[in-house]
Amino acid sequence: MSEQREHWGGKLGFILAAAGSAVGLGNIWKFPYITGENGGSAFIIIYLICILIVGVPVLLAEVLLGRYSQRGPISTFKLYAKKHRPFWMAVGGLFFLTGLIILSYYNVVAGWSMGYMVESVIGNISAFSSSGDAAQHFNQLVSNPLWIIFWQFLFVAAGGLIVYFGVKNGIEKIARLLMPIFFIILLSLVIWGISLEGSEKGLNFLLKPDWSTVSYKTILIALGHAFFTLSVGMGVLLVYGSYINKTDNIVFCGIMIAILDTMIALMAGLAIFTSVFAMGFNPAEGPGLVFHVLPAVFSSIPHGGIFSTLFFFLLSIAALTSTISILEMLVSSIMDETRLSRHHIVIGASALVFVLGIPSALSFGGWSHIGLWNLNIFDVMDYLSANILLPLGGMLVAIFVGWYLSKKDVLYELHQGFGLTTTKRNIGRVWLFLVKYVAPILIFLVFLSAIGVIK
Ligand code: TRP
Repeated sequence: MSEQREHWGGKLGFILAAAGSAVGLGNIWKFPYITGENGGSAFIIIYLICILIVGVPVLLAEVLLGRYSQRGPISTFKLYAKKHRPFWMAVGGLFFLTGLIILSYYNVVAGWSMGYMVESVIGNISAFSSSGDAAQHFNQLVSNPLWIIFWQFLFVAAGGLIVYFGVKNGIEKIARLLMPIFFIILLSLVIWGISLEGSEKGLNFLLKPDWSTVSYKTILIALGHAFFTLSVGMGVLLVYGSYINKTDNIVFCGIMIAILDTMIALMAGLAIFTSVFAMGFNPAEGPGLVFHVLPAVFSSIPHGGIFSTLFFFLLSIAALTSTISILEMLVSSIMDETRLSRHHIVIGASALVFVLGIPSALSFGGWSHIGLWNLNIFDVMDYLSANILLPLGGMLVAIFVGWYLSKKDVLYELHQGFGLTTTKRNIGRVWLFLVKYVAPILIFLVFLSAIGVIK
C-alpha cells in the first residue's frame, strides 16, 4: 500500500456519502416505474420487507468487512480468505468488473439527466401536448451521438474531478454540500405534487395495496431492487466502510443509510405519482416514465419549466453522488494493489469508463441493432449487472462474512463503537443469523429467477 489510508471526517460524513451512493437513478428513475408496474403499495410493502431482512443485513456485512480489513475488496479477500484464496480473489476481481460495467452505462443515463436539465433551462421541453411528443423529442436526442457522448463525457469528467480530490476533500465535501440541497428540492417537489388538483388519485395508488398483481416474481423484483438501490453487492460499501473510524457505530450508520434511501425513494414516488395522476397520465409507463411522461406533465402545468429544471437537477445530483462511489471503489482497489498515485489512477479509470460507456451510449442510435438476446448493448449491461452480478456479489459477501470469518471476530467488529448491552448482543445474533442463512438463500432464489430457472 502506497499512502496511509484516508478516513472520513466523521460519522455524518460517512452517512451522507453512503446515502449519496445509495440514492441514485435507482430511487428516482427506477423505483417509481417498477412500483407502477407491480401493484403500487403492495409492491412497496414487499420491497420494505426485503430491505429489512436482506438489504440492511448484507449492507452491514459489507460495511463491516471493509472497516475490519481497512482495505478495498481485492486486498480484503486476499488477506482473509484462508481457504480457497484464488476463488475469493476472483470475487474481488468480479466486484471490480461489475463496477466497470455499471459505471459505464450509468454515466450515460446520468448524462441524459444533465442534458435534460439544460434542455429545461433553454425551454426545449416545456411545450409538449402529449407524452408521445415528449417521447419523440427524447428519442431524437438520444439517437444523436454528439449530444449523448458530449453529456456522457461531461458527467464522467465531473465525477472524476471529485474523486481526484480524495475521500475527505472530494467525496465527503461534495456529499455534505449536495445531499441537503437534494433533500430540499425533493421536499419542494413533493409538496408541489400534493398541492395539485387531483393528486389524491396518486396518493390512493401509493397507499391502497392491489394484491391481485402480486406474484412470486414481484418478490424477486423487489429483492433485486433492494440490492441495487442500497448499493450493495460490488464492494462500494466495503470501500466506504474501510474509511470509517473504529470508534463509529456502524449499526446505527447502516440503519440510517437504509432509512434515508427508502424515505427518498418513497418521496420520489410521491412527487412523481401525484403529478402524473393529477395530469391524467399513465403510471405504468416503464423506463420512459421519467423522460417521456414527466416532460409532458411539466408542460401541462403553470411554471412547469421551473419544476422540470429542478427535477432534472435533482436527478443529476442523485446520479453524481452514486457514480463517484463506484469510481472510488475502482480507484481504491487499484491503489491498494499498486504504487500508483490516486491522481493517475483517477485519470486512467475515468478514461476507461468513458470509452467503455460509448457502446451503451450509441445503443440508442446507430448501434441499436447490435446486442444479445434481443437486447441492445445498454440493456445487456443493465440486465447483467442488476439482475445477475449484484445479487451474486451480495450473496458472496454474506457467505464470506457469515461463514468464512470467525464468528468471534465478526461480532467483535460489529460491536466496536456499537456497544455491548444484552439487547445489542441480541441484535448482533439476529443479524448474523440473517447474514448466514436468510440472505444467501433468498438471494439464490433471485438469482435463479434472473437466469430464468424459476418462472
Ligand atoms: N444505488 C444506486 C442507485 O440506486 C446505484 C449504485 C451506486 C450502485 N453504487 C452502486 C448499485 C453500487 C450497486 C452497487 O441508483
